[in-house]
Amino acid sequence: MDALLKKIYALTDEQIKEYSQNVMLGGGSRGGPVLDHGKGVRVWDTTGRDYIDCTSQSWALYLGYANDTINAVIREHIEKMTHIHQGFDTKVRYYLANKLASLAPAGMSRVSFTVGGGPAIEAAMKIAFKNVQPSREFVTLFDSYHGTTLGSMGASWISTKSAGKFFGGSRFLPLTRTFIRIPNPVTYRNPLGVDTETYIDYCLTMTREIFQRGISGKPAGVIVEPIQASAGQLILPRRYLQGLRQLCDEFETLLIYDEIQTFGRIGETFAANYFGVTPDIIVLGKGLGAGLPLAAIIISDKLEGFQGDTEELHTFANPTLSMVTASKQLELFENGVLRNCREMGDYLGQKLSEMAAEYPEIGDVRQLGMHIGVEMVDDPERKNPLKQAGEIRLAGFRNGLILGTGGVRKNVLKIKPPLIINKQECDEVLEKFKASLHDVLRGKSKAKCSGSVKQKNESVLV
Ligand SMILES: Cc1ncc(COP(=O)(O)O)c(C=O)c1O
Repeated sequence: MDALLKKIYALTDEQIKEYSQNVMLGGGSRGGPVLDHGKGVRVWDTTGRDYIDCTSQSWALYLGYANDTINAVIREHIEKMTHIHQGFDTKVRYYLANKLASLAPAGMSRVSFTVGGGPAIEAAMKIAFKNVQPSREFVTLFDSYHGTTLGSMGASWISTKSAGKFFGGSRFLPLTRTFIRIPNPVTYRNPLGVDTETYIDYCLTMTREIFQRGISGKPAGVIVEPIQASAGQLILPRRYLQGLRQLCDEFETLLIYDEIQTFGRIGETFAANYFGVTPDIIVLGKGLGAGLPLAAIIISDKLEGFQGDTEELHTFANPTLSMVTASKQLELFENGVLRNCREMGDYLGQKLSEMAAEYPEIGDVRQLGMHIGVEMVDDPERKNPLKQAGEIRLAGFRNGLILGTGGVRKNVLKIKPPLIINKQECDEVLEKFKASLHDVLRGKSKAKCSGSVKQKNESVLV
């Protein structure tokens, strides 16, 4: 082994404690173990404990840790090249762009690659400005999350008071854009206490009113996650997306899907195809590169794209290694991964719903493919948010399970493992999840807490 790697891998707990002074974090859910290595759906910490990872590391490791097929193409390609500047062509960029275009809805055939989700949202915003004039404002939904770059942060709920206090985004208001927010069609509970169909009508009616009377100029575009992930795994109703599409056409603005979390994870390549409602721009990130950094936008053929005069230029927007892994992953998607995602996702969804008979604190299970959220409430009638979701996450660590938490009320537990999880592993997730509910809600002692997972569950994992 390389001597430096050996030295790094041998860092002691004391050194880690000391060096942690040098690491400045701006987000993410802290309080977890120090991770050492992983394989498949499982990851080991530095003390040798193993966990099934239902966060897929910010939902991005679709094929799990150290996937053999992905590692093999990495090894092969890395001997040829890694980083190539955006201004130079490579075969793999042509290949991947063509492949994505062939899978996207008809009439969406041009792809621009970039370095991460936030910048990809900004790339979509640039295309929108180029094509929709006069316009200044973008529209996003209540509780949405679209990133923390200065261009995208104002689109995200983290600049609002929705969690009871102003979150990080509001500190940068002088530099962030203001987004016009429209009501989101939540199906589990809505502020008017009306039935879902009535609430969808309300949301669409208010959106029409806002387009007409609440915005100066045309809306430059409506950015929407077909499943609002950070908001608490809210699966938007098809009828709502159809209504939004119609409104965008009527007001001559663009419908932009943030598919950064839905791509592949719902058991289909694109949510646009699943819902049968085609946007004008699709934004991709996270799992696109099979665990390596890569993001992209795909735009409608009707739109004017980028020009070469420095409209969209990033040093690392042409990462050939990520493009190889992304291409290989698409091949694996077609060879069973998406089918597995649908089947195992349905299995988890069904079993979690059944668990509600024993744990009525499970208020709602929202599942599409491996995009799964469990909303925890104090009782199923009142639907008040359960306060112990963070504790359940910590109990998960003790039981060998990494869960996500989220939702603006922080009461949604997210179960979003790698898409390659098998049935036995799903059963293990269910067993450990149930044990964690039991420990927190039915009062088992917390004596098993290991040294590395004692800290507070401090922030929200998006
Ligand atoms: C739906 C959605 N959009 C955008 C982003 C931002 O992506 P990134 O963190 O790569 O900038 C995220 C990240 O969590 C996301 O979930």
